[in-house]
Amino acid sequence: MDDSTIVCKCEEINLAEIETAIKSGAHTFDDIKRLTRCGMGPCQAKVCSNLVRQIISESLDKPLSDIRPPRMRMPLKPTRISALVGDEESSSVISVFSESAPKEGDEDHV
Ligand code: FES
Repeated sequence: MDDSTIVCKCEEINLAEIETAIKSGAHTFDDIKRLTRCGMGPCQAKVCSNLVRQIISESLDKPLSDIRPPRMRMPLKPTRISALVGDEESSSVISVFSESAPKEGDEDHV
């Protein structure tokens, strides 16, 4: 890989930008994410996280197992807006939440 090699395809972040972030003190994937936007694309770091972790590992001379994967945020998969605001019957997200929500009359419901 040379400095112009794209590491994060979604955000078009190259190796030089990752290495600059590491030299600036970024020692985790989330640090690099904050400095470069690497991992903030549509795939949410599914494509680039292992490569970035490997670059961090080699740059800091740490075992790969010590470099934590990026912190995942909801939604964990692409979700249509209609699933979040649509009618209750077609929304799997709403049904998941409504199943876990306490109902009036439940003993634990306050
Ligand atoms: S390749 Fe990095 S966020 Fe998709």
